[in-house]
Amino acid sequence: MKTKLIIFGITGDLSTRKLLPALSALIKTGDYDDVEIIGVSRREVNVAELLQSSIGEQTLAARTRIFSMDLARASDYGLLREYVALKDDEQLIVYLSVPPSATSQIVDFMGEAGINTLQTKLLFEKPFGVDLASAEEMIARTARYYNEDQIYRIDHYLAKEMSQNIVAFRGGNALFTHIWDNQAIEKIEIIASEQIGIEGRAGFYEQTGALRDVLQGHLMQLLALTLMDIPDELDWSKLPELRLEALQAVRPADPRRATRAQYIGYQTEVGNPGSVTETYTAVELISSAPQWKDVPLHLITGKALDHKTTEVRIHFRKRHEAQSNCLTFSIQPNEGVSIELFTKKPGYDREFESRQLAFTYPEDTILPDAYEQVLVDAIRSHKSLFTSSEEVLASWKILQPILDAWQMESEPLQQYAVGSDAYTLS
Ligand code: BG6
Repeated sequence: MKTKLIIFGITGDLSTRKLLPALSALIKTGDYDDVEIIGVSRREVNVAELLQSSIGEQTLAARTRIFSMDLARASDYGLLREYVALKDDEQLIVYLSVPPSATSQIVDFMGEAGINTLQTKLLFEKPFGVDLASAEEMIARTARYYNEDQIYRIDHYLAKEMSQNIVAFRGGNALFTHIWDNQAIEKIEIIASEQIGIEGRAGFYEQTGALRDVLQGHLMQLLALTLMDIPDELDWSKLPELRLEALQAVRPADPRRATRAQYIGYQTEVGNPGSVTETYTAVELISSAPQWKDVPLHLITGKALDHKTTEVRIHFRKRHEAQSNCLTFSIQPNEGVSIELFTKKPGYDREFESRQLAFTYPEDTILPDAYEQVLVDAIRSHKSLFTSSEEVLASWKILQPILDAWQMESEPLQQYAVGSDAYTLS
């Protein structure tokens, strides 16, 4: 089916860094020749220059047009609908790559202008609200013009190759099926440590913080993939329901089990002395599902730390120290899966030593970027890697007690040195 793809904010950061390169990669496969791109922008844009400056080549030139409009003027959306001129045998994908504050109004205006027929799909970027109440309001507002089937909420962590491999690894290997519960597992850690700071996004980050920016979406989704039941006959289209069940079983967080901190220099960077926005947070959660009883679930994320790594670490119960096995899903970088095992140390003595049994990809393997996967799945109407409304709400419900408690606190935040280690801070 021919796809018309509208990108609101085609000249913006996300579009030029992620979407246009991903689209270019898709077009080069030869399988997506029927995709046409309509970039929406406030100002006139020279397509060749935009492509040159963002991806350094012109693969997309012949299939990209620009429609200039005022996003705040309702009547312009009728003109956009006429410009797109969607035919009955075409689908329309609308990618909202705009600041969150602009999203709801654009959705309203599109709905009012009739850009919401059932051939239309809406792709949203997070944040999906800033707390439970705002997420509920946003979901209800979008539902006035679009039904849930039409809405594709992107969490690019779900589309990362190794996140999908958590499902494949668990579902495809009986070995792990038998040990995936509290009988065998002692604790689970999910860490997204970043070396970068806030990279000039002061306005955004001051209103967001580490809990909303990374933990609420990305890490909660990795947690759901780790905890969810995997039926014997795995049907990937059921993933949102399975993730939802896992999230709904997680108890609302105990704020005493949450810490937050801020890197030294952040306040100067954002020009807000006394800012209480956290750039680091560690939260311990508990699931009420019987198979996860008493297994602490640690979620940790922060910026300006010593290195970039995202991993899920499964610690197995041990009877003594020389059995402390840990299974690690390395989501990025160095994508792979490894298990720490104890082996006999080579030599005449009978000593144990810890070694790694590791799966990594051959060096020449090119893993698709998460945004390529997001676009392919949206084109094919595969919703398994998108977050449903209910998942968004379930995740906020778990974390809302922490947000409430932090709002009441007036203590200055704990500070940490740039380059600290994520674990030692927790
Ligand atoms: C984004 C956050 O969603 O994810 C950023 O807004 C963060 O602050 C980024 O840096 C991390 O994504 P990745 O894919 O680089 O781990």
